[in-house]
Amino acid sequence: MKAVVFSRYGGPEVLEVRDVPEPKLGPESVLVDVRTVSVNPVDWQIAAGHLDSRFDVRFPVIPGWDVAGVVAEIGPTVTEFAVGDEVIGYVREDSIGRGTYAERVAAPLRTVARKPMNLGWEQAAAMPIAGLTAYQSLVRTLRVGPGDTVLIQAAAGGVGSFAVQIAVAMGARVIGSASDRNHDYLRQIGAEPVAYGPGLNECVRALTPQGVTAILDMYGGQTLTSSLDLLSDESKGRVVSLTNDGILEQGGTFVFARPSKADLDQLTRMAESGVLTPEISTVMDVTDAAEAFRLSQTGHVRGKIVLRVMGRLSAAIH
Ligand SMILES: NC(=O)c1ccc[n+]([C@@H]2O[C@H](COP(=O)([O-])OP(=O)(O)OC[C@H]3O[C@@H](n4cnc5c(N)ncnc54)[C@H](OP(=O)(O)O)[C@@H]3O)[C@@H](O)[C@H]2O)c1
Repeated sequence: MKAVVFSRYGGPEVLEVRDVPEPKLGPESVLVDVRTVSVNPVDWQIAAGHLDSRFDVRFPVIPGWDVAGVVAEIGPTVTEFAVGDEVIGYVREDSIGRGTYAERVAAPLRTVARKPMNLGWEQAAAMPIAGLTAYQSLVRTLRVGPGDTVLIQAAAGGVGSFAVQIAVAMGARVIGSASDRNHDYLRQIGAEPVAYGPGLNECVRALTPQGVTAILDMYGGQTLTSSLDLLSDESKGRVVSLTNDGILEQGGTFVFARPSKADLDQLTRMAESGVLTPEISTVMDVTDAAEAFRLSQTGHVRGKIVLRVMGRLSAAIH
């Protein structure tokens, strides 16, 4: 089969389309014919070598952890899915090598769930990692609900756009940081927008003088440190960082999203009930993955970048 691969660490230029061996289907896995994938910052961070100390990496690496597609074959123990089922997945294992930017991927059962019936292939692929990260941070870890006022940093991005909608669905009041051009979008999905950068704390205090009861951070550094002052006295420690494990020393929690069929099922139900709508800014062919990496690296994508896979790789010149 064909896949996008990289054979050495580097920037977007290391990506190429190549013939690679078909994935072998383990007993607890399903083989997925890939329709669409979405781009996450971790995809280009891995290609740049940033996760080398945390994962065994086997070159050539097929990038990508998000997928939406159709089950083509099931492992001998699988009873949860049948051939032809439409699924979504966060197909991460404990090593890196066989990702989703490919014609087919073998997905362990714990990584896949039923695709929301009301979403097309592009919106479906946008959901797994960003949706799970937001859900596991806000619902499983911070347990936000009515009475909470949550500050979500980078609220218009991939994770942020899911996080706002999930926190609103849980009954929380949401304040979200983004640049001005995204403030109308944040209002549409139920957040009160504030500009990030100098003056952020003052803007948040103007909206909620008593402070916030929980924070979801995606930037670390000074953005995170200074925002901790915004937590009300009874809410100290109710902070999740997605980028800075130093938050543990401040009493907060570092979340690294984990593949979870149960949590993906929950996101599927939320999408089907209309409370969660994936935001897509750009759709490209997977053969333009290098361009998609560059776009993601700007750090100013609203929602998600999605790549179409089916039928695109076989036509690629390599
Ligand atoms: N630990 C985990 O499991 C996990 C999982 C997913 C993601 N992450 C990490 O979390 C971060 C966000 O991921 P993502 O997928 O949401 O990224 P993303 O989609 O690339 O985020 C882009 C958004 O960030 C906003 N932004 C840029 N600079 C900002 C700043 N200084 N303050 C606040 N917002 C800013 C942009 O808003 P404007 O366009 O309005 O500027 C844009 O909407 C990344 O670092 C990613 O690696 C971690």
